[in-house]
Amino acid sequence: MKQLIAALVAALAGIGIAGADTYPSRSITIIVPFSAGGPTDALARTLGDRMRQTLGQPIVIENVTGAGGTIGVARAVQAAPDGYTLSIGHLGTHVVNGAIYPLTFDLVKDFEPVAMIASNPMMIVTKNDVPAKNLKELIAWLKTNDGKATAGTAGVGSGSHFSGVYFSQLIGAKFQFVPYRGTGPALLDLVSGQIDFIVDQASNSMAQVKAGKIRPYAITSDKRLPAAPEIPTVDEAGLPGFHVELWSGVWVPKGTPKDIIGKLNAAIRDALADPAVRKRLEESGLDIPAREKQTPEALGAHQQAEVKKWWPMIKAGQVRAE
Ligand code: MLT
Repeated sequence: MKQLIAALVAALAGIGIAGADTYPSRSITIIVPFSAGGPTDALARTLGDRMRQTLGQPIVIENVTGAGGTIGVARAVQAAPDGYTLSIGHLGTHVVNGAIYPLTFDLVKDFEPVAMIASNPMMIVTKNDVPAKNLKELIAWLKTNDGKATAGTAGVGSGSHFSGVYFSQLIGAKFQFVPYRGTGPALLDLVSGQIDFIVDQASNSMAQVKAGKIRPYAITSDKRLPAAPEIPTVDEAGLPGFHVELWSGVWVPKGTPKDIIGKLNAAIRDALADPAVRKRLEESGLDIPAREKQTPEALGAHQQAEVKKWWPMIKAGQVRAE
């Protein structure tokens, strides 16, 4: 019996090792917790296209939306830990949501980090006919229209939402939050004047700003964006300290074999080193982390540090889910 069990364990290990050796043997799915056409979707598609070359298998993008990204993240955490389902997300989906939703899973313990992929500040943008030429005038206008101005978001807990709440609390004016399933569709409504403004990921608004279809006021950083040096920082524009850096990463379900995580991490690094991919991401305002920050451990450490930073603020009501 002992020999039989030993043989069985060896066979299973053989299969496991064989599985990891032959990984990937079929298409891999990246679950995007927001709608197509938005910043997280664009990042997943740009990376996925290049990861396909390294991994030799198709990368399928599945948009599973709702509840500020928690629906898509919940779908990913329940997937088999076999490397065929990846969760892409960011500060909102993999940190903030853990402080405001009664999640049935742990965003840190139930996922294995794979790689940090990019980050960008938020950009305060309005429809063109808002009567304000700079941030100070915009804040005055928002105060005059207290509780009336409409702010597009990707749902409670999303980057655009908690940044919008943070902005509202810093300037002392209330907004009407208009939730979408992603800032992709929210941006379309901003361009057509259906909503007044978004505190949006710079990478999402950049093209429309460059086309003059919407108006930028400031970015939530202390450094200007190389891709848009003409746009001031919040510190320069009159709201010092309103800093939000929205970083994105890739995770897999807990229990995914380390060597499979290694292969996925290598494919993402290849993509982030690819000049065409870098050009595309950087032109949209995204900053690509340094090589040493592209490890699974670096993402894990950063996520935990951000939990330590943001959860107390959120739980203390400094950033409330309204
Ligand atoms: C999106 O892809 O729609 C965004 O990441 C949403 C957000 O967090 O604002």
